[in-house]
Amino acid sequence: MDYPVILAIESSCDDTSASVIAGGKVLCNVTATQTIHEKYGGVVPEVASRAQQEKMLPVVMEALFAANISIEKVQAIAFTRGPGLIGSLMVGVSFAKGLAFSRRLPMIEVNHMKAHILAHFIDEPRPSFPFLCLTVSGGHTQIVMVRDYDDMEVLGETIDDAAGEAFDKTGKLLGLDYPAGPHLDRLARQGEAVFQFPIPEVKDLNFSFSGLKTAILYFIQDKVKDNPNFIQENQANICASVQETIVTILLRKLRKASRLHGIKEIAIAGGVSANSGLRKGLEEMAKKEGWNVYIPAFQYCTDNAGMIAMAAHFEYLKGNFILQDVAPTARMPI
Ligand code: KG4
Ligand code: ZN
Repeated sequence: MDYPVILAIESSCDDTSASVIAGGKVLCNVTATQTIHEKYGGVVPEVASRAQQEKMLPVVMEALFAANISIEKVQAIAFTRGPGLIGSLMVGVSFAKGLAFSRRLPMIEVNHMKAHILAHFIDEPRPSFPFLCLTVSGGHTQIVMVRDYDDMEVLGETIDDAAGEAFDKTGKLLGLDYPAGPHLDRLARQGEAVFQFPIPEVKDLNFSFSGLKTAILYFIQDKVKDNPNFIQENQANICASVQETIVTILLRKLRKASRLHGIKEIAIAGGVSANSGLRKGLEEMAKKEGWNVYIPAFQYCTDNAGMIAMAAHFEYLKGNFILQDVAPTARMPI
């Protein structure tokens, strides 16, 4: 077996995930997603942390089983320290501490946002430094300059909602279940972007999505006044229009960042990178701009412990370990 062998845990939001990495190769990635939030139309933090508590041990045991590694072989325990929901993070951090203490193992803390970016090093092809990464999830929208594994700089980020939130909140207005992003994507593929929504003017490389949500709300209210069935009759076209607007906002800023910094190695990460419109738009822009584009396998785009394991591998090699007095943190800059 290749060394080091690290067991990694992710519990920052509503996914409980565990992974084992050996010699830099991710051996497994076991994720339990909480579906209980669907009925509330969003993640309820209190409910999320309780579910983390229930799922943590079974998920860790399944990961060890899937990797065919006994706990005796594990040399370090890695965990997400932040950013995320504090109650959810607390479960993972406490679990990691208990396990590390009982097995006398060193611990490695991982920044969740850095890990989303380092997911690009799990499989080939890997981007070369420096590259730009657009991280788009339910909680974050950032363009990051990645100079090295541990040298990252946020060039721009959202000043209000995240891109995933924009999908989820506009989808909710259209009566789609939570999380609405994948449903909206599916419907968008059946429609055409015939409606126009404003592209916000935001300074530098920052983003804003809250205005779009309001614009769509007013648009729908206005149309429904004349035709109560407007949403049902136009659902696919509205979805396609919303999706195109969000994708345009993201890609314009990414192009601006690329031109400004003269970087053509472009990566995307986070749950929204599953979006078919974003992937297609990115491909088209890549052709025009001469970019090399990198998108991780889907299981490493959404929240997962494989990316935590990958990040922990680099920390292990540098000897970056953390003591038992570590505490989770809801905000944690890159
Ligand atoms: O990275 P992620 O799994 O969790 C965090 O938020 O950290 O991202 C989840 C977000 C949700 O907002 C979800 O609606 C969105 O990613 N998402 C999508 C698609 N798949 C997931 N948004 C648009 N199109 C998709 N296909
Ligand atoms: Zn995430």
